[in-house]
Amino acid sequence: MNILIVGGGGREHAIAKEIIKNPAVKKLYAAPGNGGMASICELVPLKATDVGGVVRFAREHDIDYVIVAQDDPLCLGMVDALGDEGIAAFGPCKAAAMIEGSKVFAKDLMKRYGIPTAAYETFDDYEAALNYVRASAPLPIVVKADGLALGKGVLICSTREEAEEALKTIMLDKKFGASGDKVVIEEFLTGPEVSVLAFTDGKTIKPMVSSMDHKRALDGDRGLNTGGMGTIAPNPCYTPEMAERAMKEIFLPTIDAMNREGRSFRGCLYFGLMITGDGPKVIEYNCRFGDPETQVVLPLMKSDLLTVMLATTNGTLDQTSVEFSRDAACCVILASGGYPLSYQKGYEIHGLEEAERTANVYHAGTKLNEQGHPVTSGGRVLGVTATAPGLEEAIEKAYRAAEKITFTDRHMRHDIGQRALSALRGE
Ligand code: AMP
Ligand code: GLY
Repeated sequence: MNILIVGGGGREHAIAKEIIKNPAVKKLYAAPGNGGMASICELVPLKATDVGGVVRFAREHDIDYVIVAQDDPLCLGMVDALGDEGIAAFGPCKAAAMIEGSKVFAKDLMKRYGIPTAAYETFDDYEAALNYVRASAPLPIVVKADGLALGKGVLICSTREEAEEALKTIMLDKKFGASGDKVVIEEFLTGPEVSVLAFTDGKTIKPMVSSMDHKRALDGDRGLNTGGMGTIAPNPCYTPEMAERAMKEIFLPTIDAMNREGRSFRGCLYFGLMITGDGPKVIEYNCRFGDPETQVVLPLMKSDLLTVMLATTNGTLDQTSVEFSRDAACCVILASGGYPLSYQKGYEIHGLEEAERTANVYHAGTKLNEQGHPVTSGGRVLGVTATAPGLEEAIEKAYRAAEKITFTDRHMRHDIGQRALSALRGE
């Protein structure tokens, strides 16, 4: 098979490293890929959002299967456009990708089908939203832009002034463009967060090992929100009892709800959950693998990834086993100093080979310079993942490998997994 992966982050590198293991793969392409993917994929200079370009490339290069890993091409209908040309693809169609593409849609879906989530109101009128946060909304309150916003469209406000400012930023200043035409204003929930990625073909749903993201830039969950500074798996807060409740109260009802709405979901559905005093509740849905969750989940997967992906597309997931190792994994992100705000690019990266002896190094914001040497080219530069029988060992191993990699202004958190270790110790 000739396979094309659409995207170019650490998640896509992790997917590529698994896909290439299947002997049926003849040629692997990535659009646009990154400096690390270049060693196993042919890089195609197309933007991940270039639907027409990707369809044309797939047709002209005899691509048998396209893996659409990133949210925006899914929401733009890339899987539908490929399907119109008879090209099979991993990921939901546009109508199903709306579960991530519109938070108003996702919240209304949960309300209609009784799926547990934070209480909320939606607004498309700025004055009405303003009156609501001024008068009645309990504090703290969470203001969310409706559409895709690179993970930055969620503002947690502890005062009414902050909430007013959030509404202005989203609805008037249009910081996130048309994504801010509508807002969700919701109840602030507390409790540990769990990410659960699940394969589904629209009938059967098979969850992967759970994980925990670390979204803030600095140690101790301080600093700005980022795309994710590290992950661990499995998540110790996600007990077998919680997993059973989530399946019954959230996962199966979500698949059923999407079918009833005529939006059958195939691909990877990501459940961002919060374990509250009342049980698991949905914080967000994503229509794709999480980043950097994928970088801890896939190294623990024992089943062949391509086989499972094809089963979600062909509707045969019930006959396909999805097995995970009982080991633990930790991924530490190495970022450019200054991220998620402004940062410099183009610094040479050293120590990769040494790190790769004991860990999986996934490239994200890297490219090869004219001499073929990897240099930094983005905010999140690399993800360093180690696996071990226990979480503590996986964390130590990941940090030992991460320390071997150097570039100017390298920034990482030093406490990835510490909250999970405390939970394991029952603290
Ligand atoms: P999202 O972009 O939807 O993943 O939201 C980013 C982060 O905001 C989540 O991971 C949570 O930590 C936090 N968050 C979102 N919604 C809520 C909520 N209703 N209550 C508390 N925290 C929330
Ligand atoms: N790590 C969160 C996300 O992929 O949206």
